[in-house]
Amino acid sequence: MLDTYGRRIEYLRVSVTDRCNLRCFYCMPSKGVPEKFSHGDMMTYEEMSRAIGCATSLGFRKVRVTGGEPLVRKGLTGFLATLSRMARVSEVTLTTNGTLLEENLEGLWQSGVRRLNISLDTLKPERFSRITRGGNLATVWNGLQAALERGFSPVKLNTVAMRGLNDDEWEALANLSVEYPVHVRFIELMPLGSDLGTGSGARQRWEKMFVPAAEVQDRLGKAGRLEPIEVVGSGPARYFRLPGALGTVGFISAMSCHFCFSCNRLRLTSNGRLNPCLSGDVEIDLLGAMRRGASDEEVKVLIEHAVLLKPLEHHMTCGEGGRRLMSRLGG
Ligand code: 5AD
Ligand code: SF4
Repeated sequence: MLDTYGRRIEYLRVSVTDRCNLRCFYCMPSKGVPEKFSHGDMMTYEEMSRAIGCATSLGFRKVRVTGGEPLVRKGLTGFLATLSRMARVSEVTLTTNGTLLEENLEGLWQSGVRRLNISLDTLKPERFSRITRGGNLATVWNGLQAALERGFSPVKLNTVAMRGLNDDEWEALANLSVEYPVHVRFIELMPLGSDLGTGSGARQRWEKMFVPAAEVQDRLGKAGRLEPIEVVGSGPARYFRLPGALGTVGFISAMSCHFCFSCNRLRLTSNGRLNPCLSGDVEIDLLGAMRRGASDEEVKVLIEHAVLLKPLEHHMTCGEGGRRLMSRLGG
């Protein structure tokens, strides 16, 4: 499907739960856990499969399963197996924080999933615990190692670059791609979540920690060691290889406007809402329609609507009529 701006939208990001066993400060609010969706409000796996089936008949080909932490939802591997078997789905990827990977590894492998994205912002245990508010780095590290040994590929690491938090580790994190066949992607910190997105002091906190991806790239490239490589269908990431590396290093400028021009996705939340864009509050109640008895044709019309509602740019820094100042963000 093409959207109003000529972008090919073929990527559906499906959140299977809003629950998580970690509390990363840039994602979850510090004060209490956000109101969770009740079980009855969540899409069942059957409902998700049906929605995804409708999306694939409109041309969607890739499905990314996310959360919260997807592995906290019971029966996930069975659902993934269903997705892997769908004729028109060319790619099923799991985005996970890695903490439950080791114990679920065999089930995941059997489900047919091979592509993993694992979040990893630091290699220091105390720091990991601070960022995730109590998480244990060893669980992620063991999960990562087990996944590589089992043969999952590609394994991508998502690293949010943060000033004052992991800026002394960018080289070490990038160097993981030398030793292991992993793709380390540095992601710009987005002003999301109640700590960085809204509320008093949020804007200042975000500005203090925000690092442009270009800065990470400059630093890692100082020694002239980053060799650009073309990756087909890489979306908004730019990829490089360190000398002799098994994997790659990538940069995702989520906050800059050119990012939006290569946007190829639509999001489906665990309570069945379609979100055209990661910023903004437009949502389409797909689940409500399904539960009121919508036919597949009607479901498809709603998905088409969501695609056509995709804005040209997100509104975190890119606004109508040009670039909004970073300093006008948040708050
Ligand atoms: N800014 C940037 N990345 C974020 N993630 C979650 N919240 C933010 C944010 N505010 C990342 C996680 C994970 C991916 C799914 O999204 O680190 O890797
Ligand atoms: Fe959010 Fe992912 Fe951290 Fe869980 S692991 S709190 S979903 S960023």
